[in-house]
Amino acid sequence: MNPRQRVVILTGATQGIGRAAAFELARAGCKLALVARRAKPLHALAAELTAAGHTAIALPADMGDTAQAAALAGQTAAALGRLDVVINNAAIGLRDNVLDIDEAEHRRMWEVNYFGPVALIRAAIPLFKANPDGGLIVNISSIVGRRAMPGIAGYCASKAALEKLAESLRVELRADNIRLSTVYPGVTRTRFNANSLGSDPLGRGRRLGVPPERVARAILNAIHRERRDVFITLFDRAFVTGSAVLPGLMDWLLARRYRR
Ligand SMILES: NC(=O)c1ccc[n+]([C@@H]2O[C@H](COP(=O)([O-])OP(=O)(O)OC[C@H]3O[C@@H](n4cnc5c(N)ncnc54)[C@H](OP(=O)(O)O)[C@@H]3O)[C@@H](O)[C@H]2O)c1
Repeated sequence: MNPRQRVVILTGATQGIGRAAAFELARAGCKLALVARRAKPLHALAAELTAAGHTAIALPADMGDTAQAAALAGQTAAALGRLDVVINNAAIGLRDNVLDIDEAEHRRMWEVNYFGPVALIRAAIPLFKANPDGGLIVNISSIVGRRAMPGIAGYCASKAALEKLAESLRVELRADNIRLSTVYPGVTRTRFNANSLGSDPLGRGRRLGVPPERVARAILNAIHRERRDVFITLFDRAFVTGSAVLPGLMDWLLARRYRR
């Protein structure tokens, strides 16, 4: 899809990958409905983009609340005239061994990472159907949604769920010309770990990986090319493919590193 003049909902826009994607998509000519919980930085971002000549509105919402998530589709169409693309980027991590996971935190994570995106997608579908050229859903998963890691099982499962959701929806919505693309970032230099729920400090404050701008370019590319699966680096792709071919070897390697 040509991104120019496309109306796009982008969740998780105030920082990290979402913020970088906001600038990338705005420069490509998208009209943006920016979503996150914190209204102040969200409005500041929309104002910065507008001052630079782009079209951007701020829609503060908690993606962990399905009513708020669903309302975003209609709010965007009312403000910007239509809806072409939904990018489910907002998510939170949960860092604990399975035995130590707090159930309330676990459920909260699923609300934000899975049920919120499902509610937004469901609300967007009738608007996509009204477009002559349908619509596009881009879900931001993770390489750990393809090969889970110890210590973050709940998070990995929520990301894997997004991929399975896309697999079903792609077929269910084929006749309506609604397409799905899943982006699988690897480790990216954001505050994601520091923002995670859970009691495990492992990795908190770590600033390794690729810059968020690189993932943002891949997200724009996902709109352009509408590919089913989008990886950011060759290493990420090799990690996922290698893990699928030799899962036992990956178990062994991970167990050696994860002795606690
Ligand atoms: N960083 C990595 O290494 C990495 C790797 C693989 C995949 N990913 C995925 O990439 C995506 C972006 O991650 P990131 O690293 O950019 O994370 P981040 O730096 O922690 O940013 C998360 C964004 O989501 C928003 N957000 C969090 N909870 C929300 C909620 N309940 N409702 C609405 N917005 C919410 C935050 O804004 P507010 O606080 O204002 O709500 C923020 O703008 C996520 O889906 C993540 O799973 C990240």
